[in-house]
Parts: sequence; structure tokens; C-alpha cells
Amino acid sequence: MRILITGAAGMLGTDARRILAEQGHTLLSTDVGPAATGTIAPLDITDIHALRAVFGEFRPDVVLHGAAYTNVDGCERDPDTAHRVNALGTWAVAGAAEEVGSALVAISTDFVFDGQKGDRYTEFDAPSPVSHYGASKLAGENLARHACHRTYIVRTSWLYGVHGKNFPYTMLALAKTKPELPVVADQIGTPTYTVDLVNTISEIIEAPLYGVYHVSNGGECSWADFARAVLQKTGLGHVPVRGITSDEYAEMFKSPTRRPPYSVMRHYALELMGRDDLRPWDAALDDFLASAREQGKI
Ligand SMILES: NC(=O)c1ccc[n+]([C@@H]2O[C@H](COP(=O)([O-])OP(=O)(O)OC[C@H]3O[C@@H](n4cnc5c(N)ncnc54)[C@H](OP(=O)(O)O)[C@@H]3O)[C@@H](O)[C@H]2O)c1
Repeated sequence: MRILITGAAGMLGTDARRILAEQGHTLLSTDVGPAATGTIAPLDITDIHALRAVFGEFRPDVVLHGAAYTNVDGCERDPDTAHRVNALGTWAVAGAAEEVGSALVAISTDFVFDGQKGDRYTEFDAPSPVSHYGASKLAGENLARHACHRTYIVRTSWLYGVHGKNFPYTMLALAKTKPELPVVADQIGTPTYTVDLVNTISEIIEAPLYGVYHVSNGGECSWADFARAVLQKTGLGHVPVRGITSDEYAEMFKSPTRRPPYSVMRHYALELMGRDDLRPWDAALDDFLASAREQGKI
């Protein structure tokens, strides 16, 4: 297939480029600003004219739309930028995809939910975001569906990958300098490895079953549990992780963002289709750490 990737220099985009190329797809990788160098073409998703020109020339079969304003505290402080990139940008990408008859994979988030359900969220639960990041991503989902007939919305959670800033790297860096790590213990979700997400997306796009998919690794944990697993698996298990509340975190790190307390997603669409589930987060973390070590990242 001919696949156009937005946000190709980002954490997900970097693994998507490698994996999809290895699978034999023909790629056009795009991103904004200084990241657009070498094999990555410059493309700002808020520029509809540029999108139409690039899409018209490449004529993708599928657009993997990973570009987003992902800084959740930044979104909270600047909701207009959040909506310009995550809502308008996704709308424009969807319109440009529709114009050339392409399918669209719009990556979204567990932050579209408020976390109050008390059970895993399915694709059929009504979203109710409690942050500007979540609201802007939900607006992007809805606009994408309206603008492009062939839209897969793929919601994922607590994403980490070898390339990019992420929670495991932050914990490892802090563990080398701090006697104890204060980490949130009252938010429960599911860490998801970029490689597993890309592999599942490449299966989803084989069938024309457009709609919403929840794609995360299996199981659930708190951020504090996740931190402990990272440290234990890297020989730093002696560094204590002190569980703190979300309120303590907000005060300590001056974070303005409300986050869902329980945002675990059931992969109900994949389940109903009889697809294999993704592996547990703990097993995926082992693979991530092995790759990060191999590539000299940790
Ligand atoms: N990270 C998570 O925990 C998580 C969880 C759930 C869902 N998601 C979703 O997964 C997707 C990928 O996330 P990620 O963590 O890989 O994000 P990322 O590393 O921040 O990558 C996003 C990329 O999009 C680029 N971008 C920003 N504004 C753009 C614009 N106007 N035009 C074109 N590109 C633009 C960014 O460039 P700059 O860096 O220069 O801004 C960056 O290279 C996003 O849709 C995100 O919302 C992420």
C-alpha cells in the first residue's frame, strides 16, 4: 500500500516508518518544522493547501495520522493551539484524504474518557473528556469521521517507544539522581508499546471495517506500578517509588491538567472480530527495554 505518515518524526511516527517500510509498504513520511529533514518531507497539518498538494501528488491508499500537539499541560494552558492542531489539523488531514480516496487512521487517546466509569471503556462508551487535550482529540475524531468516509479512529494509551521522550526514560533518568521517586498511584491505565500499536494498525487497515478501535497493550497498572516495573527490569529496583495522589502531583509539578483516574480500554472491536489480543504491557516493556539497550538509549 501507499501510506502517508503525518508526525513521522515523533515517537510513534519513527517506529511506524521503520515497521511499515519493513512490511513492504511505499511510504511518504511528513512532519512539521526542523524535524522535516532527510527522508521526512515538511508538512504542517494545519495548512490545508499544502495537504491537498502533497496528498494529490502522492495519492496515498492510507494516511497514518500521528501528528498532534501531545503536551497535555501545554494544551491545558493553550487550548486554542490544542484545537488548531488536534481538531482543525485532523479535520484538514481527513478532508485531504477524502479528496484523493484514501483511508485515514486517526490516532486518538484514552483521554477522551473522564475515567469515572469504574470499568474498562469499550468503543461504544460515550466519551467525556476532562482536559483540553482530550477535548481537542475528541473534536479531531468527530471531524475526521465527518470529513473522511474511510476513517479508522485508533485510541491508544500511555504510549512509549524507543525514539522520543517517554515515561520509562524519565524514570530511568530520575532514578540515577534521586534517592526516591514520587509517582502517581491513583491513576490506572495501560502502558502501550509503539511497536505493538503499529503492528496492530497494519492488521486493522487490511479490512474495510472503518470505525473506532481501542488498541493498547493488555492489563492495567498505576503510573507508580509502571515506574517500579521499569526500575526492577533495569537493575534499579532498589530505588524506592513513593506513590502520590494526582493532587500531590499537580501541586509538586505545577500541572494544570485533570486526568482520568481509570482509563483502561477494553479492545472490544478486536474482540468482537475474533482477533488475537495484544500482549500484556509487562511483556511489551521487556521488549522495549531490550531494544532501547541495543540502540544505546539506556
Ligand atoms: N504519547 C502518549 O502517551 C499518547 C497516548 C495516547 C495517544 N497518543 C497519540 O498518539 C499520536 C502519536 O503520539 P506521539 O507520542 O508519538 O507524539 P509525538 O512524539 O509528540 O509526535 C507528534 C509529532 O507531530 C508533530 N506535529 C506537531 N504539530 C504538527 C503540525 N501542525 N503539523 C505536522 N506535524 C505536527 C510533532 O512535531 P513537534 O515535536 O515539532 O511538535 C511530532 O513530531 C498522537 O496523535 C497522540 O495524540 C499519544
